Amino acid sequence: MDKYAVFGNPIAHSKSPLIHHAFAKQLGEEIEYERILAPLEGFVDCAKTFFEQGGRGANVTLPFKEQAFTLADTLSERARLAGAVNTLIATPDNELVGDNTDGIGLVSDLQRVYGPLENTRVLLIGAGGAAKGAVLPLLESGVAQLHIVNRTVSKAEQIAHKVEHFKNVSYEGLGNKNVRSWDIIINSTSSSVSHDLPGIDGSYLEGVQLAYDMYYSDVPTSFNQWARSINPSIDTADGIGMLVGQAAHAYQLWRGQMPSVEPIIAALKEGQL
Ligand code: ATR
Repeated sequence: MDKYAVFGNPIAHSKSPLIHHAFAKQLGEEIEYERILAPLEGFVDCAKTFFEQGGRGANVTLPFKEQAFTLADTLSERARLAGAVNTLIATPDNELVGDNTDGIGLVSDLQRVYGPLENTRVLLIGAGGAAKGAVLPLLESGVAQLHIVNRTVSKAEQIAHKVEHFKNVSYEGLGNKNVRSWDIIINSTSSSVSHDLPGIDGSYLEGVQLAYDMYYSDVPTSFNQWARSINPSIDTADGIGMLVGQAAHAYQLWRGQMPSVEPIIAALKEGQL
């Protein structure tokens, strides 16, 4: 049976094995997929051993995505731009390909909850690892404008600079407010983890149709609650669909078949997975 795993530290609460086993069941396939707790200083050895013992692919989560980037023999363009790898694929001649499906998982989920992204104006809050992974897939989806705001403006500038050939990317610090009117506003900061807010002005929300928090939890995230309180007609979504989306794209890279995400997202939301 083909063997897969997710590496992280901590890893006990990862939903990836549940998600991937559900995909396999849906597609009538059988796979092995386990959680592997890699020591903080030992990810590379741990991953090498897994692949030497026949592993066909792996997901990589915090804090090892940058180390997975250095481990891969070849990289996809989106992984190179993200500076991080969340999916490793063993080729038939045992080369390791590093890819990053986080951003395409986000884009798929935005398309699921919002619709086509062509001609939409997107405000992305944050310029950490999550934002780096999202920028290229968002631009490739055909958005009209991608505007990045971050507390530390130099980090937003660095990300925008890497994709400046797209011409429809702009950025600013939190205190400025040069451009108005967004269709979708995405929170990629880690503020919701601590029930905090990313510190943007509420007037950014005027006319926004969808507030999307990449973080997810059983209750509405602090960012989504705040967005609703300012603009009651706004739709909100959290990152559970992105989690399933990135997993589905990884599954497709490994096994060539794209699972259907809807039933898995529903099962997770209903606590049945
Ligand atoms: P990583 O790169 O691992 O994703 P990070 O560098 O801590 O993590 O980045 C997280 C993002 O959340 C950054 O954009 C960070 O803003 P800064 O670049 O200014 O540090 C943002 N962030 C985290 N907590 C925040 C808060 N309370 N308010 C605003 N932005 C916050």
